[in-house]
Amino acid sequence: MKTILVTGGAGFIGSHTVVDLVQHDYKVVIVDNLSNSSAKSIKAIEDIVKTEIDFFEVDIRDKDKLSYIFELYKFDGVINFAGYKAVGESVELPLKYYDNNIGGVITLLEVMEEFGVNTFVFSSSATVYGIPEKMPLTEGDKTGAASPYGRTKLFIENILSDVALSSQKWKIISLRYFNPLGAHESGNLGEDPNGIPNNLAPYITQVAIGKLEKLSVFGNDYDTPDGTCIRDYVHINDLALGHRLAMEYMFNKKQSVNEIINLGSGKGYSVFEIIDSFEKVMDKKIPYDITKRRAGDIDISIASIDKAKKLLKWEPRYGIFKMCEDMWRWQQKNPNGFH
Ligand code: NAD
Ligand code: WQD
Repeated sequence: MKTILVTGGAGFIGSHTVVDLVQHDYKVVIVDNLSNSSAKSIKAIEDIVKTEIDFFEVDIRDKDKLSYIFELYKFDGVINFAGYKAVGESVELPLKYYDNNIGGVITLLEVMEEFGVNTFVFSSSATVYGIPEKMPLTEGDKTGAASPYGRTKLFIENILSDVALSSQKWKIISLRYFNPLGAHESGNLGEDPNGIPNNLAPYITQVAIGKLEKLSVFGNDYDTPDGTCIRDYVHINDLALGHRLAMEYMFNKKQSVNEIINLGSGKGYSVFEIIDSFEKVMDKKIPYDITKRRAGDIDISIASIDKAKKLLKWEPRYGIFKMCEDMWRWQQKNPNGFH
């Protein structure tokens, strides 16, 4: 049985990935400082997989504590989700983001190197494409992140590429996620945003549950068929699967690996289409106003997923209705998330 360290495993994407890994016979150890999550998500994971998970409440920048954990286990690989992700906050507090996201990964890589663990998956983001020139976005397209958050992802991708080139022993994949949506289908594990959500889907479900009054649709004058922005939404469990397949791809490779791979659905939905999909699933109307554009939003973002299909044999399994259904089930069962 292989053992995988999942940092940030108490968070949204990490927790679903842990479930997938454990259900496919991996031993998983979680390190998370709970800065944007709750230990209740670990309990929710354990209830789903019916196994106890080894969890350490540790900051990945704490080299001594991290080294201690590497002494306790012989890891076959590491998946890093630990990091901050709020684009707006990163503009206000860039150093907080550079310190945690970049500093965290550097410390983690140093400890991995020291303990001879060289297989690594990193959570990158479609935000690294900046203002795209064409659709769909392929991994070789020009990058140019527009926020400190996005730049942390871009800098880390570059750091990882340098590390992978430095020695044949490294196997590294950066996964560029598009827009994750959905929840575990039990309705007991899902996204638990702090305060008022920044993202579209949790905002919609919080309006539907009565926690927020109405949605603001940020602009209907984009160059798209209905005037609202188009995004590529991907089910959280498909993202989770992508991480397991990325790990397995590297485990099966004799040579070093240094890859960047998009994970999206390859399909685009406008803000109005997302509202419509949720309304159908919930059988209720979502009140909304059209407001001005949100700074930094681009009109369209859609992934080319050819590389993930070819290299990882990854195929998204779930469509937009399943994403909305699962997310709505989670929201209804847990109106206050894990709190
Ligand atoms: P999340 O905030 O739910 O999960 C991140 C987890 O990392 C949290 O549990 C947090 O407590 C933990 N963490 C943060 N800093 C840490 C540190 N220094 N040490 C230990 N733990 C720490 O976010 P998520 O949505 O699950 O995203 C996971 C990763 O994927 C992030 O790196 C994010 O930037 C990236 N990503 C997310 C999205 C998205 O839309 N959710 C899209 C693209 C990329
Ligand atoms: C989707 C669409 C908004 C909220 C963000 C990050 C990105 C990545 C994924 C981490 C946009 C519109 C939204 C609302 C709205 N995360 N919207 N009203 O901006 O595509 O991506 O999450 O890496 O880096 O930027 O996702 O869900 O915020 O927005 O009209 O209340 O919904 O304008 O068109 P986004 P989102």
